[in-house]
Amino acid sequence: MKILLCGSHGRMGRLLMSLASHYGCEVVGEINRGSNFGTELARASDMCLDFSSPEGLAELCIAAAEHGTRIVSGTTGLSDEQKRRLALSAQNIPILHAANFSIGVHILNKLVRIAAGSLPTSFDIEIIEKHHSQKKDAPSGTAMTLLKNIQAERQCEEIFGRHGECKRNAGELCLHSVRGGDMVGEHEVLFAGQGETLEFVHRATSREIFARGALLAAQKFVKINEPGLYNLDDIL
Ligand SMILES: NC(=O)c1ccc[n+]([C@@H]2O[C@H](COP(=O)([O-])OP(=O)(O)OC[C@H]3O[C@@H](n4cnc5c(N)ncnc54)[C@H](OP(=O)(O)O)[C@@H]3O)[C@@H](O)[C@H]2O)c1
Repeated sequence: MKILLCGSHGRMGRLLMSLASHYGCEVVGEINRGSNFGTELARASDMCLDFSSPEGLAELCIAAAEHGTRIVSGTTGLSDEQKRRLALSAQNIPILHAANFSIGVHILNKLVRIAAGSLPTSFDIEIIEKHHSQKKDAPSGTAMTLLKNIQAERQCEEIFGRHGECKRNAGELCLHSVRGGDMVGEHEVLFAGQGETLEFVHRATSREIFARGALLAAQKFVKINEPGLYNLDDIL
């Protein structure tokens, strides 16, 4: 499988470069800030694999839709406008977008959804995410996906952090973002009831899990030709 790697100079890009061949992938082109790709590279590749920035993904969407090249992207922190751009391009090409390519987090989402749908609404829910000091977006894309899964099962209103006088209101869900050092990523979802607490925690200790998950998903996604916006549930 031949891939165009967008964001190849970044932390994830460098990892993907080093692991690609283990998954039968050959990087035939690199896209970085100020560069994009033309017809020749589009013809030589099966897909674009993107771990860049929201702007990078938005620019890539335009070029890929023009050339009919499918995209697998893990870029997070998209604005509403950039999400609309993604959905628009997905009318012309298949796009797989996942805020977290770890298989463990994929299962975490399923477990959290079961808990949110099964526990009484009297259980208070909080999400705590921890990442390295260089992370650009907060809350993490994974925390927002966890929130969406919970909201699919029960009504709750999200708030971001607390300070001052802030007694908990019924039905609110607070997201807490911790940043520091070189933490790869930790997500905790807390269901706190009267006399019992249920906690789900996922800890990433190596970025490799995201790169390996993305390459695995790319292997499956190369067979998808129908335009549309896909998520990991559709593929794994
Ligand atoms: N889904 C997942 O599993 C997962 C896991 C980890 C990270 N991520 C996300 O993946 C993205 C990249 O993470 P990272 O840690 O690798 O970041 P990073 O180290 O900052 O690397 C990003 C790379 O993208 C390039 N880039 C930025 N804007 C671009 C543009 N407009 N066009 C082309 N290339 C551009 C950057 O180039 P410059 O150096 O010139 O800026 C850099 O090489 C982030 O959104 C992060 O949150 C997702």
